[in-house]
Amino acid sequence: MKTTLSLIKADTGSVGGHNRPSEAMLAKAREFQAQAMSKGLLIDSRVTFTGDDIALLMTHTKGVDNPDIHKLAWDTFIETTKIAKSQGLYGAGQDLLKDAFSGNVRGMGPGSAEIELEERPAEPFVVFAADKCGPGVFNYPLFEGFANPYHNAGLLLAPDFGAGFTFNIMDVNNTEADSVATMAVPADYYDICTLLRDPNHYVIESVVENATGLTAAVASTSRLHNIAGKYVGKDDPVAIVRTQKQFPSTGEILSPWALAHYTLGDNRGSHHVAVMPVKQGSIISYFDGPTIVSAAGYCVHEGKLTEAVDLFDQPFWDIIRNKASEKTLEMRRQGFYGPAMAGMDELEYTGVVENLKKLKDKFAIREHKK
Ligand code: F6R
Ligand code: MG
Ligand code: MG
Repeated sequence: MKTTLSLIKADTGSVGGHNRPSEAMLAKAREFQAQAMSKGLLIDSRVTFTGDDIALLMTHTKGVDNPDIHKLAWDTFIETTKIAKSQGLYGAGQDLLKDAFSGNVRGMGPGSAEIELEERPAEPFVVFAADKCGPGVFNYPLFEGFANPYHNAGLLLAPDFGAGFTFNIMDVNNTEADSVATMAVPADYYDICTLLRDPNHYVIESVVENATGLTAAVASTSRLHNIAGKYVGKDDPVAIVRTQKQFPSTGEILSPWALAHYTLGDNRGSHHVAVMPVKQGSIISYFDGPTIVSAAGYCVHEGKLTEAVDLFDQPFWDIIRNKASEKTLEMRRQGFYGPAMAGMDELEYTGVVENLKKLKDKFAIREHKK
């Protein structure tokens, strides 16, 4: 059976600042999704939140980029926005950047990651949801999880894995059209590294297994800044990764997150902090951060989802959370100097740029001494 997994997320308002959606918003989203299930549009649905973002995981048979499914997601977020407004929540409707729906949420604010798959007898997959960061946060863990035998031991131990994986990498600064490079490991290893080293510009959109041609992973690639032309919140991406058998194991895919790698995001979308792997339903706190990521493991059968296994809710990750806090605090000690704050082209608020224009007048050319 061909099942589509559609993961669509948006920030439509939150309690206490940019911290988490309200229970009433989540209840409304679940109610709205349940209606779509009773009408037969969806087979199954899960509504979760990570920081201030609500993620809708929907299963159906309509394929990716289906207008009815995208409209359902858009309408769900319109409903949660109404609740947010009625409760006086902060940033109500923040990620709904267009007035009228036009067939697909891409380019309208919400992020989407979708995959159509022929269900295997057992179909495990992981849903990642991150808050206070851009889509490039997945570059490091996806590339390492698929391409590096330090993490994906299957590359050495499993007979079929040697053929490697293909990465579709999007140039997210190209706002005219989708600009995507398709490159495979092992052949293009260093060229892929050359792109992925700049996660604010080049972003993994999907991963395909070379031996089978099966899509193994998809990630949302929207850059809100490029849609709105100004800062309206960080992109806070989501991803789906299929695991086990012909794909890396669930543990191999989780392994790179143990680095707690540095990423751009956090407060005002303009600071470099370490990504903290968190439990489901975690909120945003210190310095409007830190950048967080949750991981929910599911199986799907005939479109029906199991309960989620909360993959970062395990004692191992406590030490990683502590490490992430320490790495973030170490960077925060440096305040706004150098790599602690975003470079000029990625600063999300205009204050520094505006001020620098005024400060130009402070500079005078010094006469050379005779
Ligand atoms: C980061 C984020 C927050 C806000 C900050 C100021 O993505 O959403 O850090 O940038 O709280 O928010 P405003 O400008 O809405 O007061
Ligand atoms: Mg927000
Ligand atoms: Mg967010």
